Amino acid sequence: MLTTMTCRKFKRVGIRGINKLVLLVMTILTSFALMVALSVTKTSVTLDEIRQIRRQPLKVDENTLAYSHNLLNDISQTDSNNRSMQVLTGTILNGGRSTGRLKLKEIYNLVVHGNAYQEVSTNNKHEHERVKKLPQVIIVGVRKCGTRALINMLAMHPDIVRPLNEIHFFDFDDNYSKGLEWYRKQMPFSHKNQITIEKTPAYFTCKKTPERVQRMNSSVKIIVIVRQPTIRVVSDYIQGVVKHNNKDKPPFKDFAELVMDNGKVDQFYKPIQTSIYCVHLSRWQQYFNKSQFHIVDGDALITDPYKEIKLIERFLGVSDYYSPDNFYYNETKGYYCLRWGKESRCLGENKGRKSLYPNISEPLIARMNEFFGPYNEIFYNQTRHRFKWETIT
Ligand code: A3P
Repeated sequence: MLTTMTCRKFKRVGIRGINKLVLLVMTILTSFALMVALSVTKTSVTLDEIRQIRRQPLKVDENTLAYSHNLLNDISQTDSNNRSMQVLTGTILNGGRSTGRLKLKEIYNLVVHGNAYQEVSTNNKHEHERVKKLPQVIIVGVRKCGTRALINMLAMHPDIVRPLNEIHFFDFDDNYSKGLEWYRKQMPFSHKNQITIEKTPAYFTCKKTPERVQRMNSSVKIIVIVRQPTIRVVSDYIQGVVKHNNKDKPPFKDFAELVMDNGKVDQFYKPIQTSIYCVHLSRWQQYFNKSQFHIVDGDALITDPYKEIKLIERFLGVSDYYSPDNFYYNETKGYYCLRWGKESRCLGENKGRKSLYPNISEPLIARMNEFFGPYNEIFYNQTRHRFKWETIT
C-alpha cells in the first residue's frame, strides 16, 4: 500500500517536472528561433519584437529607452507606407558617442537581459523627456570636402545628435512639399540640452535652398566645409567614375576631357561649378548674417582633425568634449580615424579614395588653379580667411 502511494506521488511529481522541462525547452527554443530569425532577415528590431522576446511589457516607455545613452539611438522611423514606427536600429552609443550600428544580438542582450532598464533607471528623470527637434545647425556642403567625416566627428559629442542619412528636405521639391513636420520627424530624438545637426551637401549649390532654410529658422547656424577647389573637382570626378563603373556602361570619360573645353577650363562642368564656392556662398549670405556661418577647412580636417573640431565646438557653443585622443592616424587607411574608450572607427572604403585618383598633368592642375584663383580671392574676402589654395599639397 505504502509502495503504491509513493509510486503515484512520484508519477504526479515526475509528470509535472517533465511538463515544466518541456515548457522551458520550448521557451528557450522559441526565443532562440526568434533571435535567429531577426538576425538573419532584418537590420533593425521593432519594440513589438522585443516585447515578444521578453514575453513581458517593457518597463520603460519608448522615449525613455531611446534616451538611454549607452544603448540605443534613433528609435523612430517610417515604414514603406510612411507610417511612423518605433525601431531600434542599434546605432550605438558608448558613453554617449555613436559608434555605428549595433548587432541585433547585442540589442537582444541589452534589452532581454535588462541592462537597458538598469541604465535608464539611473538617468535623471528630466533627461527622459526627449523630443524630435528641427535642426538648429545644418551642414550645407560642400560635397566631397569631408562632410561625412565631419558629421561623424560631431556625432561623437554627447550634446549633438544627427539623423543617419542625408534628408534632402530643402533641395528635393517632393520632400519639401511634405512640410516641416515631415522634416522634423526625420530627426532623431534629443533631450533639451542637445542640438540637432543635419547634413545634406547638395544644399550648398541648390538655388532654392537658402531661402527655404531661412523660412524654417532665420537664426539657424550653417556649416560649410571646403577643400582646395581643384582637388575637390578630382574627388567629385572619382565619385562619378565609381558610380558609373557600377553600372553596365561604356567607360567614363577621361578627366582632362571633361574638365577642358576648347582649351579652356569648362565652367559648365558640374564639378567645376561646385568648386566656385564664392558664387554659392554669396547666395547664402543674402539670407543669413556672416556670424551664422562657420567655414571648415576640409584640408585641415584631414591633416589635423582635432584642431578643426575644436573650432566647431566653440562655434556651436557645446561643452568642451574632444581631446586629441579621440583621433588617431590609421596608416592603412591613410586618414585619421575616431577613437573613444575602447572603440575606434574609420570611414568606409568609399571615403578616402586617393589611390583611385587619376594622374593629372602638372600643366592641367596649374590651369585649373589659375581658373579658380580669382574666385578664391572673392571667397577669402567673403569668409575673412585666406586658405592656402594656390597649389595642391
Ligand atoms: P575622397 O574619397 O575623394 O578621398 P564627403 O564625405 O563630403 O563625400 O567627402 C569625402 C572626402 O572626405 C574624401 O574624399 C576624403 O578626402 C575626405 N576625408 C576627410 N577626412 C577623412 C577621413 N578621416 N577619412 C576618410 N576621408 C576623409
